Amino acid sequence: MSTLNHRNNMNALELINNLPKAELHLHIEGTFEPELMFAIAERNGIKLPYKSVQELRDLYQFNNLQEFLDIYYQGVNVLQTKQDYYDLTWAYLEKIKADNVVHTEIMFDPQSHTDRGVKLEVVISGICDALKDAEEQLGISSYLIFSLLRHLSEEDCLTALEQAVPYKDKFIAIGLDSSELGHPPEKFTNLYKKAEALGLLKTAHAGEEGPAEYVWNAIDVLGVDRIDHGNRCLDDEKLVDYVVEKGLTLTVCPLSNLKLRVVKDLQQHPIKTMLQKGLKATVNSDDPAYFGGYINDNFKAITEALDLSGEEVVQLIKNSFSGSFLPDSQKELHITKINELIA
Ligand code: HPA
Ligand code: ZN
Repeated sequence: MSTLNHRNNMNALELINNLPKAELHLHIEGTFEPELMFAIAERNGIKLPYKSVQELRDLYQFNNLQEFLDIYYQGVNVLQTKQDYYDLTWAYLEKIKADNVVHTEIMFDPQSHTDRGVKLEVVISGICDALKDAEEQLGISSYLIFSLLRHLSEEDCLTALEQAVPYKDKFIAIGLDSSELGHPPEKFTNLYKKAEALGLLKTAHAGEEGPAEYVWNAIDVLGVDRIDHGNRCLDDEKLVDYVVEKGLTLTVCPLSNLKLRVVKDLQQHPIKTMLQKGLKATVNSDDPAYFGGYINDNFKAITEALDLSGEEVVQLIKNSFSGSFLPDSQKELHITKINELIA
């Protein structure tokens, strides 16, 4: 038994349930539960191509990232009004309140809305109103990340970022998501230069399906402040050393990795090895409505599969704050609170 367990009698499961935590890798469109999707489709007069919630859920069997993305973008199509974006965001915030999440950094895919004619103002104001209410009513702080679709051209992404300039105080960073293979980081060199000039922080999905080389280039060409996923770092020892030396956080998503077949089973998940190598791994839910669980479900699944110790769970939770985009003073407050709770 670990010293931690001796001291405070909280086992790994209790630590997961009881400790405050941050979520750093979450696509708001990926929190769209089928029940809410059907309700919003109905009020918008849209007919979904599925007979029932169950028929839709039954489709959530994916062989790779692309099979998931095809269904995910289809779901997004029913979102139209400010109220739709508010309801989507609020439903997620209520879920994470139950998981003791006190800070969340939420990605959204503006192009998947504006390309259908929904105004950016509608999307941002619906999401931000819910975030503001969550701060006041649920005690959850948050940042928004403007995430660009890498299957589109860099020019399209630059146009999207240009349209976002009037709202730039509403988000903290840009991100890069969607189909990774064939769309390497260096395709977006100018986009990331522009984001930096706007004073935004930078994150990007890298090394989910793409090779270690994509992680190298996300760091060296795009200058990311954080890496989303990063599983494939472990293929390259030099890269592991480099990421450790730079102190970059990896936002790892265990149930996503399982559902998208990035790993064969959770026993083979690399997160424990990441911690052992000194990588700042965190646990996140990615697209919880599609992958079978919110953040605590991810913690529980990985703890059981890899027999994580109480210390490892605490490390992952502390990493969620130290790897956040919060100011240092806030990070320290959260980590001090954790130390008090486990003392
Ligand atoms: N990977 C890439 N793009 C995404 C994902 C993901 O897991 N979820 C939503 N967009
Ligand atoms: Zn993701």
